[in-house]
Amino acid sequence: MRTSSSSRRGRSPLSSAIACLPGDGIGPEVTTEALRVLDNLSVDVEIQELPFGGAAIDALGDPLPPETLEACRAADAVLLGAVGGPRWDGSDVRPEQGLIGLRKELGVYANLRPAASGDVDLVVVRELVGGLYYGARGVKPDGTVFDTCEYHPDQIERIARRAFELAGERSGLVTSVDKANVLDTSRLWRRVVTEVAVDYPDVELRHALVDSTAMQLVTDPQTFDVLLTENTFGDILSDVAAAVTGGLGLAASASLGDGGPGIFEPVHGSAPDIAGTGTANPAGMLRSLALLLRHGLERGDLADALDEAVNEAIHLAPTPDLGGRATTAAFGDAVVAELAANPRPLEAA
Ligand code: NAD
Ligand code: IPM
Ligand code: MN
Repeated sequence: MRTSSSSRRGRSPLSSAIACLPGDGIGPEVTTEALRVLDNLSVDVEIQELPFGGAAIDALGDPLPPETLEACRAADAVLLGAVGGPRWDGSDVRPEQGLIGLRKELGVYANLRPAASGDVDLVVVRELVGGLYYGARGVKPDGTVFDTCEYHPDQIERIARRAFELAGERSGLVTSVDKANVLDTSRLWRRVVTEVAVDYPDVELRHALVDSTAMQLVTDPQTFDVLLTENTFGDILSDVAAAVTGGLGLAASASLGDGGPGIFEPVHGSAPDIAGTGTANPAGMLRSLALLLRHGLERGDLADALDEAVNEAIHLAPTPDLGGRATTAAFGDAVVAELAANPRPLEAA
């Protein structure tokens, strides 16, 4: 565990607390760059690094140890790398359970996953604490294994309101994605979203089925603004949205509840195929740090500066996934250099 602060003098009364969960595989590698960049921003934060995921299973036998959860609850925001890897594939307790548990414990039901490039500018608004991931599951006597998808109308209403509010600040279009031609949960989803839409007359609502939406994300991604969907569909569609806007290495996310700390993490996983090579793209993580600054610490000014620096670094120091040869650290260097070249005012009032 490590505690540090950009002032390196402990926590002042005005400083913010960030719980930092590097996790597994490339998680710690991209987290290192985020902490280095944070050190170069004029923001007073205390960072507490905590065991999580596979690393925490190895150290403590628990992917979400109680002290990690408590530190996250007490923090202003959680910065998370990635969890998982083949090492834990056979184990009874999996790293991913830590992530699923943490999201539920913090009540971060709204997962925002922006994807933009050229004329594409969309946000996947993914319901994060319901559906298949959290429904009843088990094994029947005959060996049949089941997972169930459940949604309460209130769970749908609160995420729908988030999506409409966000669309109101953007181009004013919500595309709600479901499988209402087959699933009862999707028919409930469609009904509740349609009812919520009445309160947002300036926002257009379209309904779409998930299979053709996946196709349209590949062929015509510029036709979307806010994509509102349930947990599993959102997981899949956000990887597609990332792929058509530059790649998984660039994609960031913010997971928010009603007050309380949010979780900020890249969309990608632990990338076991490239872990340890020093070539992971830290852009998704750095953009997640920007989302943390914007939504968690109310420092939109620093978030803008960081987003601009990351956009420059994508051209100046592309990693192999972007067709370049830069290392993870070289990308981080480019971001730090860009921030230094365009200094921002010190502390906000
Ligand atoms: P992945 O996202 O880890 O990797 C998919 C592909 O994208 C790989 O080829 C990988 O090398 C590449 N990639 C991903 N991030 C990259 C980056 N920053 N820079 C360059 N290339 C990058 O998905 P996967 O391989 O299906 O899953 C691996 C593990 O990660 C699994 O255990 C899975 O459960 C876990 N996972 C965790 C999270 C999370 O912690 N939020 C998210 C997704 C997957
Ligand atoms: C993500 C990941 C997680 C999810 C896994 C690792 C539990 O794929 O954050 O997209 O499915 O939510
Ligand atoms: Mn995913």
